[in-house]
Amino acid sequence: MDKKFSFTTVIFGASGDLAKRKLIPALYSLYVNQQVPDNFIILGVSRTAYSDIQYREKMKEALIEFGENTNSGKIDAFVEKLFYQPLNYDNRQDYFDLKERLENLQKEKKIPGNIVFYLSTPPKLYGEIPVHLAKVGLNNEDDGWKRLIIEKPFGYDLESATKLKDTLLKYWNENQLYRIDHYLGKETVQNLLVTRFSNGIFEPLWNSKYIHHVEVTSSESLGVEERGGYYESSGALRDMVQNHLLQVVAFTAMEPPATLEPQAIRNEILKVFQSLRPIKPEEVKKVAMRGQYIASTIKNQKVAGYREEPGVDLNSTTETYAALKFYIDNWRWGGIPFYIRTGKRLPTRVTEVVIHFKATPHFLFSKQANCSSCNQLVLRIQPDEGILLKFGMKVPGTGFEVQNVNMDFHYSDLAHQRIPAAYERLIYDSIKGDSTLFARTEEVIEAWKFVMPVLDAWKNNPEIPLFGYPAGTWGPKEADDLIEEKEMTWRYPCKNLADDGIYCEL
Ligand code: BG6
Repeated sequence: MDKKFSFTTVIFGASGDLAKRKLIPALYSLYVNQQVPDNFIILGVSRTAYSDIQYREKMKEALIEFGENTNSGKIDAFVEKLFYQPLNYDNRQDYFDLKERLENLQKEKKIPGNIVFYLSTPPKLYGEIPVHLAKVGLNNEDDGWKRLIIEKPFGYDLESATKLKDTLLKYWNENQLYRIDHYLGKETVQNLLVTRFSNGIFEPLWNSKYIHHVEVTSSESLGVEERGGYYESSGALRDMVQNHLLQVVAFTAMEPPATLEPQAIRNEILKVFQSLRPIKPEEVKKVAMRGQYIASTIKNQKVAGYREEPGVDLNSTTETYAALKFYIDNWRWGGIPFYIRTGKRLPTRVTEVVIHFKATPHFLFSKQANCSSCNQLVLRIQPDEGILLKFGMKVPGTGFEVQNVNMDFHYSDLAHQRIPAAYERLIYDSIKGDSTLFARTEEVIEAWKFVMPVLDAWKNNPEIPLFGYPAGTWGPKEADDLIEEKEMTWRYPCKNLADDGIYCEL
């Protein structure tokens, strides 16, 4: 990257988990891989009173634990770029002090006024810190660009998201705002566009004429771990669907953008969201399913249920599993159902999009067919990133017996290519000023509009069941009922952990 991109990153919430696990390691990787100019600094900001030296020591430890390539001999040079400034988030004077510190550091290090402010704080501060920054002039771009990266969740519901949007846009321009959705930083989510739009073979089939339904799964094997407090105010629908999974749907469903310019791509994403058929309150029971994991035994180990997790209410009705059926009312997708499911404490960690193609108009081999999962294209987002095409083949020998075979590609086969972490890509883009992979205001608002009827119905109608599912299984069995055809189910790439052993396809 050009020298003129020399910059400062200010991380609010600098002593928190995200900074330690993701942000500092991502900046370190960009530095080691020489993707950013050598001349940059990082100013950690939070309430705790560290000195620069203490902060450097803490981050060095974090890097050794979570960073990549940490024996490159460059750690010490990297941590020298770290500085620290304690700040009380609601104290106006502290922002003046922050501004002064930044000016001094920039002068000393000969860095222009280009600044990325990264808000990695509790969400309630997203409406506060940017206003304080603006009031002391730290949104002013006369001496260099100023960008604001905001972590999810962007609001708690449509109302709070709209309010947050109005507050931010009062002080910042839309092109200064980078709303992070780390799924968009994943190599394989971006690859959805390349797979679709760089190959003549898929796109002609990518529509309601040839596709029966689309399934998006994001399962996690972990429970809520130490995040019970946060998760209680969130739940699976807010935590994963409103943001990450709807973005994956948009990449799967969007029209080809006119160019690869951020605006062109984001316009297409927005159009998908605007075409989501609103879910009527009275339909929620039929098209949305919620579940919560209950205690079970996995590989001879007792695993706690959600309600026994630290920070979780004993009578909690927060969903740890959510599944939805919905439609995209546009020319390409009219009448084709989309299914999304996500959950904690499922058998394995996997995120994938499954395109289920329609059967042939007349199936010659029906009697002999053993091919319930033929005709599928699986786009595996993580782990073991890759693409799997499942189709029917003749079993050698007499007769016309058909069996499913797999043609698969693993990203790991591109062995010389390192897959950068999502945060690395996104921070890099924000420094370059490329907002393609960040959610635009209207996208976030549309996504909230779409999920609100479900959130409201779940909150206000206790008679809508919250199904318990044993930890280590694929969630409530009832979720299969969402899928229209009786003989169809979700794709189960691995068995339940309760079954004998795990077998995962791909
Ligand atoms: C986060 C959610 O945004 O995404 C977490 O808050 C979830 O609950 C995580 O575990 C999943 O991300 P990934 O990259 O591990 O799929």
